[in-house]
Amino acid sequence: MTYRNHWKKNLFRYLLFSVFVVFIFTCILNILPLTPDSCNCHEKVSRFKKASENGVKQFKISQYKLAVLVPFRDRFEELLQFAPHMKQFLDKQNIEYHIFILHQVDRFRFNRASLINVGFIHVQNHYDYIAMHDIDLLPLNENLSYGFPNNGPFHVSSPDLHPRYHYPTFIGGILLVNRKHYQAVNGMSNKYWGWGLEDDEFYVRLKEANLKVYRPENILTGSQNTFKHIHDKNVRKRDTIKCFNQREITRKRDRQTGLSNVSYKIEQVINMTIIDVPLTILNIALNCDKTITPWCECTKTNENKTP
Ligand SMILES: *[C@@H]1O[C@H](CO)[C@@H](O)[C@H](O)[C@H]1NC(C)=O
Ligand SMILES: *[C@@H]1O[C@H](CO)[C@@H](O)[C@H](O)[C@H]1NC(C)=O
Ligand SMILES: *[C@@H]1O[C@H](CO)[C@@H](O)[C@H](O)[C@H]1NC(C)=O
Repeated sequence: MTYRNHWKKNLFRYLLFSVFVVFIFTCILNILPLTPDSCNCHEKVSRFKKASENGVKQFKISQYKLAVLVPFRDRFEELLQFAPHMKQFLDKQNIEYHIFILHQVDRFRFNRASLINVGFIHVQNHYDYIAMHDIDLLPLNENLSYGFPNNGPFHVSSPDLHPRYHYPTFIGGILLVNRKHYQAVNGMSNKYWGWGLEDDEFYVRLKEANLKVYRPENILTGSQNTFKHIHDKNVRKRDTIKCFNQREITRKRDRQTGLSNVSYKIEQVINMTIIDVPLTILNIALNCDKTITPWCECTKTNENKTP
């Protein structure tokens, strides 16, 4: 065999091999599912079709935008569960929403209410309503509506459905409020450092403003299976310390502070995705005026243990 013949023969083999590879590759591409993006589009289109075909209300694409406001500190593994769960849940209802993680980065005690005030100020020009949302409470029953609360706040985690709190005036956990109503009550009090009671004070604000709180209907599940409560109370100790005159002050309606004068600085805005869920993290440094709320820091010496 001459050198030339040898080369020709190999070239032929090489060409045959290339055609084979291209063929296999094309087959694989055809079998693969669509990219996630085009999948979503497809889903949206088909849902929209359904809506126009039989006019079913829940398929209608919402004209209102929801900001899910999640007070946060130090609970990354809960966030990893929360984000994909909420995406799946809200997409089914065709809610147009975005998740904002309100991350308290100062050294003071956790202040859930002030974080929500800051989150509200950040989103109020672009969103029509907010969900004040605990990160450890995941809705399971599809009948829990996250639609626009037109007539008054909508308490998703009502006392007969919440796994833990059953008193009639409870409005914590998950509460939907539209922009107008949140502004009307001057948001939440800024005096609640540490765990608890800020939601009870907010209830009084709503009541004084004659806003009726609405609650879910058509829920056949009960307090043990309407929500998944991912809070581990042994790992996550609640900061229930009371110091100075905190106990006395935080039992009263606060007429001084609220949305209009929450004092803070947003140190960073971070857009990111968790798995496939886009969200925004606000790094928030709250300020504390110790002449008004000295209990934003409690030390052993000023702690008040008597109930
Ligand atoms: C949701 O509501 C519908 C209509 O009232 C009812 O038939 C269904 O059983 C409810 N589902 C659950 C899980 O509560
Ligand atoms: C908020 O405003 C009230 C008066 O409306 C004032 O008494 C209070 O000190 C202010 N609080 C802060 C934290 O600025
Ligand atoms: C984050 O995303 C929002 C909305 O998509 C956008 O308006 C904003 O500019 C982004 N911010 C940063 C820091 O990238």
